[in-house]
Amino acid sequence: MFDVRPVRDSDEFARAFYSIGQYFGAPLDEERIDRFLQFFELERMHAAFDGEQIVGGAGAYSFDFTVPGGSLPCAGVTVVGVYPTHRRRGALRAMMLAQLADVHERGESIAALWASEETIYGRFGYGIASWACEMTLQRVWSAFAQPLERRGQVRFVSPEEAVELFPSVWEAMRRQRPGVPSRSEAWWKLRVLRIPDEEKANPRRFVALDLDGATQAYAIYRRESGWADGSSSAKLEVQEAIGATAQATAEIWRYLLDVDWTETISAFGLPLDHPLFLLLANARRARMRTADSLWVRLVDVGAALSGRKYATEGRIVFEVRDATCPWNEGRWLLENGRAERTEDAAEIALDVDVLGSAYLGAVSFAQLREALRLEEMRPGAVERADALFAWRPLPWCPEIF
Ligand SMILES: CC(C)(COP(=O)(O)OP(=O)(O)OC[C@H]1O[C@@H](n2cnc3c(N)ncnc32)[C@H](O)[C@@H]1OP(=O)(O)O)[C@@H](O)C(=O)NCCC(=O)NCCS
Repeated sequence: MFDVRPVRDSDEFARAFYSIGQYFGAPLDEERIDRFLQFFELERMHAAFDGEQIVGGAGAYSFDFTVPGGSLPCAGVTVVGVYPTHRRRGALRAMMLAQLADVHERGESIAALWASEETIYGRFGYGIASWACEMTLQRVWSAFAQPLERRGQVRFVSPEEAVELFPSVWEAMRRQRPGVPSRSEAWWKLRVLRIPDEEKANPRRFVALDLDGATQAYAIYRRESGWADGSSSAKLEVQEAIGATAQATAEIWRYLLDVDWTETISAFGLPLDHPLFLLLANARRARMRTADSLWVRLVDVGAALSGRKYATEGRIVFEVRDATCPWNEGRWLLENGRAERTEDAAEIALDVDVLGSAYLGAVSFAQLREALRLEEMRPGAVERADALFAWRPLPWCPEIF
């Protein structure tokens, strides 16, 4: 058995962090600890102890996180790891339970994460709530289907300018899409705009689109030059390309696709309804790999269901099973956008991770029924639930956290 508690100082923090460091990266030095603690709250790192020894860590960011039609406080679960010396003895389970209890106490009704493996988190109530696509496109196939009447001007900006200009574009996109976490100023400066040491020789570039007197889109990208068979084989890797409007998004992508001397353009984490796929004349030529992106956990089912908007009016009664957060167990009536406990007969019975999958609108109850993930007690209940939960645009989390 392991004792689990939040870390108390930066030494414990560094040792807990090194649990994930066993798999990615190096031990934290003082400079990295200081930097990390500017956008992460120390007391949100849980550690698993074997006696005096720290053998596991699990952290969470405090996000505001967009949900259909709104924004909710959310635990952004991160840096989860257990030392290889102590694997499969229950350290992760003990940390997940402690973290969920803490998230509940803080009043965050949802938690979200990117899973390193899809087999880990379902048992703790997290369900796949969105899909994302990794795309590689040969530049020769980058024409748009319709001519774009170019508007605005793209310019290079420094990180200092970017921190002034980019957040409003991010916020505009955040208001439109579920699945987008808020970013503090420290997050922008230290996670998004900082040039890491390993990029010093070829740093990321920042561009802003000025349109109608304001910055309406930006991109962060890297270029890796190359030369093959007498021609450039350079790759342009888009780290983030965000527009506040449809026109601005098309403009910034046109810029990225038009950088001369590029052979391929790649981007990660695009939602399946990203406009690029319909802007392109030859979208079929883009190589795309789709995978799960965000996983969502309803930590407080009533508050989470009441905290989003719905596509239609209507009512549905869920019977929720939740072995790790038993306070959620039981029957919930969702009616007029509010969820309350009820004695009414259940219409759909499901595990809480399945409800998490449906929550952002990217996974339908009909799909979940087909995948044998829920029981429909009343015919038509699944279609009714889908009419309520359906939401466009699809969720998009442009950054792995
Ligand atoms: C994944 C990891 C944290 C698991 O830690 P652990 O302490 O070995 O896990 P536990 O012993 O508490 O296991 C809890 C349950 O999860 C299961 N489990 C743990 N890791 C699993 C994995 N990688 N795949 C499938 N099941 C897994 C266990 O079998 C156990 O199942 P049970 O409750 O049904 O008996 C650890 O292997 C690790 O650090 N891996 C590398 C880093 C990583 O992937 N971190 C996640 C970042 S998102």
